[in-house]
Amino acid sequence: MTGVTSNNTPAGKTVAIIGGGVIGASWAALFLVNGLKVIISDPDPDIAAKAGATIDAALHSLVALGYAAQEYGTRLSFEQDNRLAVAAADFVQECAPERVEFKQALWQAIEAAAPAHALLLSSSSSIPASVQAAKMADPGRLVIGHPFNPPHLMPLLEVVPSPQTSDTVTARARAFYRDIGKVALVLRKEISGFVANRLQAAIFQESVYLVAQGVVTLDELDDVVTSSLGIRWATSGPFLSFHLGGGPGGLTHFIDHLGPPLEQSWATLGKAAFDAPTKALLAEQVARSYGTEAFSALAETRDAKEIAVINGLGGVTSQS
Ligand SMILES: NC(=O)c1ccc[n+]([C@@H]2O[C@H](COP(=O)([O-])OP(=O)(O)OC[C@H]3O[C@@H](n4cnc5c(N)ncnc54)[C@H](O)[C@@H]3O)[C@@H](O)[C@H]2O)c1
Repeated sequence: MTGVTSNNTPAGKTVAIIGGGVIGASWAALFLVNGLKVIISDPDPDIAAKAGATIDAALHSLVALGYAAQEYGTRLSFEQDNRLAVAAADFVQECAPERVEFKQALWQAIEAAAPAHALLLSSSSSIPASVQAAKMADPGRLVIGHPFNPPHLMPLLEVVPSPQTSDTVTARARAFYRDIGKVALVLRKEISGFVANRLQAAIFQESVYLVAQGVVTLDELDDVVTSSLGIRWATSGPFLSFHLGGGPGGLTHFIDHLGPPLEQSWATLGKAAFDAPTKALLAEQVARSYGTEAFSALAETRDAKEIAVINGLGGVTSQS
């Protein structure tokens, strides 16, 4: 089982998931193995079949991660109307399309329909709670609960309060995610893109730049990462890595010794754009490297490897 677990459990409580796509269905599987009742609200008429298939595959992975196999039966249900879905919810995990006006209207409606005690959580990757809450009567109720894809496997959960979010809501959100096994970190300041995605954006820009410049192909770049930075950062973050890289003198010596060339290299980092030639190059290379395998097979391999890493680390715990 992943993360920092506690003795509290939200088992038996009800979570409404708004949007049952990639993220919502993955969340559903994790909530179900933690004993919650799950209501998925999504206008897609085929959502039960689509989300059901994702949930079943995710449950398979969760068993490999150490959760007990279990029948969820009537604990999973579907309700197209968002307001009816949240009417008896203890938690609302929003996983709907990433559009500002849409989320603002959604929270206005959910706030009016959900019980006063319900915790209102957004999975958004980029839209801060202060922006999403613009039309809420009480913006203090909303907090970001941002997972890393896929939420049923990845330990990290970024809790990002807005300046208006009440301290109680932030504390309850952190406790909820810790109680279901997440490494739940509260960001000390609201910032667009939060932390993990900002890091990913920086590295992805340089990745696209290196491929666009012809330094490496896309699959060669993936190999560079999985055989170096991926392994390093799965065991110690960038700061601990360089603290160790400095020898007995630690990070202070590392910066004195290797800081100047590192700082100079920042000025040489590339700028990338998804212009037409770059998009065509990436499309051609991704088709050649990964296009012969079905999406489901690639996802299954990824899940198996991620589970092996998490289990190999003995479950993931926070360094803080
Ligand atoms: N995909 C990722 O890697 C990732 C990672 C972390 C967070 N997120 C965030 O999760 C959220 C969902 O992203 P996704 O990738 O699952 O998108 P998705 O397109 O896979 O799923 C969105 C779902 O919302 C449904 N929907 C549309 N209108 C709706 C409405 N009015 N009420 C309820 N449901 C509605 C759609 O039918 C769809 O099933 C976004 O805010 C995104 O930023 C995504």
